[in-house]
Amino acid sequence: MGPQKLGSRHELRLVFWVTRCACNLECIHCHRLDVAAELAKQDMTSEQGMVFIDSLASFAKPILVFSGGEPLFRRDIFELTCYAKSKGLTTALATNGTLIDQSMTDRIIRAGFEGLRLALMALVPRPTTNFVVFPGLLPVPWFVSLRNAGMSMQINCTLARHVVEKDKLYELALDLGADALHVFMLVPVGCGVEISPENQLPAEQYETILNWFYDRARESKLQTKATCAPHYYRIMRERAKGEGIKLSFETHGVDAVTRGCLAGSAVCFVSHKGEVFRCGYLPVIAGNVLRQPFSEIWEGSTVFGQLRDTEENAVFANTRMFVKAAEHVPLGKHRTTWLKNLTAPINP
Ligand SMILES: C[S@@+](CC[C@H](N)C(=O)[O-])C[C@H]1O[C@@H](n2cnc3c(N)ncnc32)[C@H](O)[C@@H]1O
Ligand code: SF4
Repeated sequence: MGPQKLGSRHELRLVFWVTRCACNLECIHCHRLDVAAELAKQDMTSEQGMVFIDSLASFAKPILVFSGGEPLFRRDIFELTCYAKSKGLTTALATNGTLIDQSMTDRIIRAGFEGLRLALMALVPRPTTNFVVFPGLLPVPWFVSLRNAGMSMQINCTLARHVVEKDKLYELALDLGADALHVFMLVPVGCGVEISPENQLPAEQYETILNWFYDRARESKLQTKATCAPHYYRIMRERAKGEGIKLSFETHGVDAVTRGCLAGSAVCFVSHKGEVFRCGYLPVIAGNVLRQPFSEIWEGSTVFGQLRDTEENAVFANTRMFVKAAEHVPLGKHRTTWLKNLTAPINP
């Protein structure tokens, strides 16, 4: 299979690569399924990583997000990112930020990342026991240095009970001069399955928070996105209708024209051992980059094929995918809440 044509129906735009399974933190909500140190031995080697990068870059030019676990916990991370850049890929770094000091800041700048996605909830000394509130002890200097070096700075925050601090989060993002604020709906998989119901949000609080997020988005002070939040698109339509506004790119930006989840149609995930998934929370293996060319997986695998077959009805495809993921979630109150949110009508 040759290189992908730009603008093709399933043009690959974003690849998240779990460059290292291990992490220096243990956030209780983390979706990583392979957390055991034993499994970290299966992380791709530098050579394997480069083979994957070659295979990807010869097919398409997506943004390659170096994620994890914690990517900065990987010794050869800058070697790999420079290699990816030399192959024409745009690179970004998804990090918990805790390993960044001045020398790391300089290395990140030199590596030429287009952007950095900072997970804010992890910026505390002891994030392992609970969701955390914002520490007020932020590594502002390096954030500002990276921003001033021209990197696109995005703050990610996974939503759970701690979002009572949501206004602080927003103010912080503005104060830091972040380009984007993305909120992640908690997906109760991996370690996240074990999150106690009292740390999760009940359905009505999701409504409150997503309505709050809609208001912030309308202020257009920075780019916003609610991830893994199909219900946000329903709320956006309800609110716009209530305000008598016709939804369009001009009024609501990209949110008005995206169909929401792009897993498998423009986005995919590559695990620490080379498996390709359409969604990082749903480890259905489409292929393995250590055994076959990336293009073969993206264009020829049954897993992607089946998803795209149902694309005409993307809402149902996505809902079905999440409901399928929910089968792995133990029965209980939080599963019911989750399903209720996911199956709420998108276009009432
Ligand atoms: C898995 S982390 C990897 C990169 C890096 N260690 C970090 O924390 O940003 C990427 C993002 O996924 C989010 N995440 C992890 N598990 C999640 C879950 N179960 N539901 C929603 N978001 C989750 C994290 O909060 C983080 O923003
Ligand atoms: S969310 Fe990120 S920082 Fe937290 S444990 Fe998972 S990989 Fe590590």
